[in-house]
Amino acid sequence: MRISFCCTGTKPGPWIEGLRAALPQAQVEVWQAGAPSADHAVVWAPPQQFFDEQNQLRGIFNIGAGVDALLKLRLPAQATVVRLNDAGMSAQMAEYVCHAVIRHFREFDAYEADIRQRQWSYRKPRERNDFPVGVMGLGVLGQRVARCLALFDFPVNGWSRSAKLIDGVRGFTGAAAFPEFLGASRVLVNLLPLTPQTQDILRRETLSKLRPGGYVINVARGAHLVEEDLLALIDSGHLAGATLDVFRSEPLAVEHPFWTHPRICITPHTSARTLRDESIAQIAGKILAFERGEPIAGIVDPLRGY
Ligand code: NAP
Ligand code: GLV
Repeated sequence: MRISFCCTGTKPGPWIEGLRAALPQAQVEVWQAGAPSADHAVVWAPPQQFFDEQNQLRGIFNIGAGVDALLKLRLPAQATVVRLNDAGMSAQMAEYVCHAVIRHFREFDAYEADIRQRQWSYRKPRERNDFPVGVMGLGVLGQRVARCLALFDFPVNGWSRSAKLIDGVRGFTGAAAFPEFLGASRVLVNLLPLTPQTQDILRRETLSKLRPGGYVINVARGAHLVEEDLLALIDSGHLAGATLDVFRSEPLAVEHPFWTHPRICITPHTSARTLRDESIAQIAGKILAFERGEPIAGIVDPLRGY
């Protein structure tokens, strides 16, 4: 069995070593232009040329959860596309989102500013029930995030395509329930995949439906958010602010207003990183199961887009 590795922006050495150790029966190589087609590929942001040449692939293993960029390429028709599911990302995402929600709810930014001025001042405790959190997307990451927020006793709403029953989470299903979900939420967390249906979903019309003083946490993809609409709604006072990890164009341009906006906190697409050892173990296990004809988790439906 041959495996070709083509991950843009990733040092190949440790991955190749790890994959060879986990799959000693396989021949694992970094892709070189002109190489014969392998059986499986391990990829992140490969060039189109990779798939034009590696046209006999049976499995394409993405070393991330989101496959939006991959699905824009022309892929070998017979290949099964498989994404990472969790592999250590859900705990990171839960940490990130809970941190952002709590930082906003407890006004830690304001306390930090006071402390810098040597001011020992108190703010009136806020009512948790006034801060219902809506989680868009109740998949591998969204479910973990929703459950963790519920552990802090926040009222939690969740929105997904198919119905979900999650302890402590009020479920909303499908497009028809979206306006009601938004109206029931004040803090909005986006954990949807980027698909034609979800692109630009965070825009004036939808964000205006949040309860007054709404707060947006986008940890999915930059193209979910219409950035000008967010800025206008924050500047008009309808939204209290935002925490953003992903952007329409990454890295964020130096002149972008998000860098310095006092109500926007940004991080450089780091909320849930791919963890090498966990990912290698998961991909190796899936390749072996796939070869045995067993079912595996994380198979992407190209028509659905995730
Ligand atoms: P997932 O398991 O595929 O979950 C996706 C969820 O979104 C599912 O609950 C799905 O509903 C729901 N959904 C999809 N389309 C919908 C629609 N049109 N309306 C309502 N709900 C819809 O994905 P995941 O592993 O949780 O990852 C989610 C996304 O997070 C990834 O696609 C990626 O873009 C992003 N991500 C970002 C980072 C980062 O560092 N910032 C890291 C990892 C992932 P069903 O359950 O009904 O199918
Ligand atoms: C990161 O953004 C991922 O999709 O894994």
